[in-house]
Amino acid sequence: MFPAFALSPTAITSRIDKHPLPLHRSKTPRRALLMSAQVTRKFFVGGNWKCNGTKQSIQELCEAFNAGKNIDSSQVEVVVAPPAPYAMLTRSILRQDFGVALQNCWVGKPGAFTGEVAAEMIKDIGLDYVILGHSERRHLPEIKENDDLVARKTKYAIDKGLTVILCVGELLEEREAGRTREVNERQLAAVKARLDPADWSKVVIAYEPVWAIGTGKVATAAQAQEAHAEIRSWLHRQVSETCASQTRILYGGSVTPENCVELATQPDVDGFLVGGASLKPTFLDIVRTHEAKTAARV
Ligand code: PGA
Repeated sequence: MFPAFALSPTAITSRIDKHPLPLHRSKTPRRALLMSAQVTRKFFVGGNWKCNGTKQSIQELCEAFNAGKNIDSSQVEVVVAPPAPYAMLTRSILRQDFGVALQNCWVGKPGAFTGEVAAEMIKDIGLDYVILGHSERRHLPEIKENDDLVARKTKYAIDKGLTVILCVGELLEEREAGRTREVNERQLAAVKARLDPADWSKVVIAYEPVWAIGTGKVATAAQAQEAHAEIRSWLHRQVSETCASQTRILYGGSVTPENCVELATQPDVDGFLVGGASLKPTFLDIVRTHEAKTAARV
């Protein structure tokens, strides 16, 4: 199912058609209005704990999260991704208004694949999400997952009932060479080649420029908005208008409680995938940016 949204694309189209005058005066293309401002995509905040933590530190972090305000699940979806050995511990301690993800999974059925974790197992322990295509898995020389492997994993995980947080993003040299859009579209095209159109309702895209991950060098709000709008436009051209208007596109890369509000209020930023800052209780401040997002929409 697609996340809750205020108006169906058809309702929006008819509303726009009924009120053509202000839009004719506006410089904003009709398509852009359809795809971003008028559709309320449920805000999504992911916490990627990467290969960090101990039983004790994870217990303490979960208890700190549990002590925070309840999460209004009608407004925001919050999912943390612990290292696999701590997934069940995390699930058993954390309040139910937090989702729990794994950070990777195997590409196919369970079997003789030493060291791997299958999508079926993630479902079996009661989790509903997996992060795939994270830049560390795409680029670390010890791992080097290619676009097609990420795509095959995405298809398999969706078929087994998981929601996939699919990461895409460019390296610094690719940005400097003006290739950001091309790289994002290449990574997405590989996924499109494997998915059925309906599968996109189980994908949350995380745009994570590699140069911003763990570097303290966050993308500017304008850089994030530009890349997100390009991705949304690609979804519109390559999948469907519904997919473009309903798919959440998260920003990831050095997000902190200090910089998240400006990013969150960009029209095509639907939430965050947070690394380092998700290992602290102040992650909840980032979760609360959904309030600023709602205020910005009014
Ligand atoms: P960061 O990581 O927030 O520590 O930059 C983000 C990510 O890798 O998802």
